[in-house]
Amino acid sequence: MSVTPTTRKRVTTRRLIDMKASGTPIACLTAYDAITAGILDGAGVDVLLVGDSVGNVVQGHDTTIPVTLEHMIYHTQAVVRAVEHALVVTDMPFMTYQVTPQEAFRNAGRLMKEAGSGAVKLEGGQRVLEAVHMMTDSGIPVMAHLGLTPQSIHQFGSYKERGVSQQEADDIKRDAIALEKAGAFAIVLEKIPASLAAEVTALVRVPTIGIGAGPNCDGQILVWTDMMGMSTEFRPRFVRRYAEIHDVMTRAVRSYVSDVKGHTFPTDEESY
Ligand code: KIV
Repeated sequence: MSVTPTTRKRVTTRRLIDMKASGTPIACLTAYDAITAGILDGAGVDVLLVGDSVGNVVQGHDTTIPVTLEHMIYHTQAVVRAVEHALVVTDMPFMTYQVTPQEAFRNAGRLMKEAGSGAVKLEGGQRVLEAVHMMTDSGIPVMAHLGLTPQSIHQFGSYKERGVSQQEADDIKRDAIALEKAGAFAIVLEKIPASLAAEVTALVRVPTIGIGAGPNCDGQILVWTDMMGMSTEFRPRFVRRYAEIHDVMTRAVRSYVSDVKGHTFPTDEESY
């Protein structure tokens, strides 16, 4: 089916739940700035996540741990300015929702009120239930995130697949049901076996959004710089590269450097 961006209505959390019910796949990507968000939104993406992957992709850190609430507010404001159709969801960074449910609630409120986000996302199961309850009771839509949760990298010790042992698989299923009960409108499933993602998807009425979780989720999400081939090093098997932007940019910049050094840019037509 072709997407006609100009006729698209603003995506809501309700609409995503209806899309699951009608078997319509949900296409999600990350975004961190206005110019990119405008392109992704115009091309028909349903959900734009201002992910705390901004720490890796934009800030150059090895993990998402250093990202702050102020960073997320800044990047969300830029994305929101450019988006007309997609639902904008903002990640709550490490230590902005783990200390107390009250603090989590206040910080989620800032992302909605100051940044203009349409929803927040936080990682974890049992330990975030009270915070999720408090937010959803007050009208703050929450996207949950289970499986590989990058903010816990120092606890896991690696970015390996999660939910492989029976115990972990059972915990993920139990957490998904509890998060739906607490009011979450969607659940990201990261790097878990496709068979487990299919089971979770069948267990809950809210959509599951997979990243490295196989084809049976209700939607998919990728980090936009990964799917565009911006990096030469990061090539996990769950990322399909839809372009080779690293090569395109390198060629373009080499041409520019050569033109400047060869005195062929700018020409008279490019001058005033
Ligand atoms: O921060 C992020 O980009 C994410 C997605 C990978 C789901 O959490």
